[in-house]
Amino acid sequence: MQHTKANRDPVFPELTEDVVGRIASTADARVREVMEILIRHLHAFVREASLSHEEWRNAVEFLTRTGKMCSEKRQEFILLSDILGVSMLVDAVNNSAGTGLTDSTVLGPFYAGPQRELAHGDTILLREEDGPPLVVEGTVTSQSGEPIGNALLEVWQTAPNQLYDVQDDAQPEGHLRASLRTDERGTFSFKSVLPVSYPIPDDGPAGQLLQMMGRHPFRPAHVHFMISARGHRTLVTHLFLSGDAYLDSDAVFGVKPSLIVTPEERDGLHRIVYHFGLESLD
Ligand code: BEZ
Ligand code: FE
Repeated sequence: MQHTKANRDPVFPELTEDVVGRIASTADARVREVMEILIRHLHAFVREASLSHEEWRNAVEFLTRTGKMCSEKRQEFILLSDILGVSMLVDAVNNSAGTGLTDSTVLGPFYAGPQRELAHGDTILLREEDGPPLVVEGTVTSQSGEPIGNALLEVWQTAPNQLYDVQDDAQPEGHLRASLRTDERGTFSFKSVLPVSYPIPDDGPAGQLLQMMGRHPFRPAHVHFMISARGHRTLVTHLFLSGDAYLDSDAVFGVKPSLIVTPEERDGLHRIVYHFGLESLD
């Protein structure tokens, strides 16, 4: 087999050195460093996989279709990064939560910027939904447990029909998303409905790739949070619901055990209490 030979005896090694050598005097040291690593890994990939011309053409055509799919409302390259685990890896390289800090996870493509600001205890719904009612409350503190007042929480989730407002013309814009602030004790509270598991957009190249790899497109039910506070690192995370069928096979690898919660249920009302810990910047 050709690839076995490639493992023993790299094909055309001087080509790799020639390509890397041409950026030796690149002024920006970081560009030089990142591009050298990228070139070496790309060349190693082609050698190890013994890519045929046809496979390479298919790959280029796939990336072309991915680019053509992108628009203001659709970021197919982010989906590709998500389903290949690259988004979570970039997050892991840049965030290491420790004691007192909440784990981060993927942002995803459905964050829609700052929203209307709610008062403590308000609902994030702009219309009635059939889903079971939910209250989410808790605190935002620093790593040492000090309450953070005036922290901004931006939250968003799907409707019971498995769609975000930005995917569904029938939903009012801003439905099931909002901004809210902690009070001086660091507490927050909002009303919603239980989120549901849903498929990521799979009608484009990312979806076709999932299918080719024999994978499903589902994410387990979750509520998104982006929490920012002066002097602290912004936290991008979700809370997932325990018992969801997709917790072990999230299409974008975003689940971390510390982010799985079990809502308490009383008289049909579900309640999640969660304490978020933010890293100080000093
Ligand atoms: C999301 O949770 O909204 C999401 C994340 C990654 C890809 C698609 C959707
Ligand atoms: Fe989501």
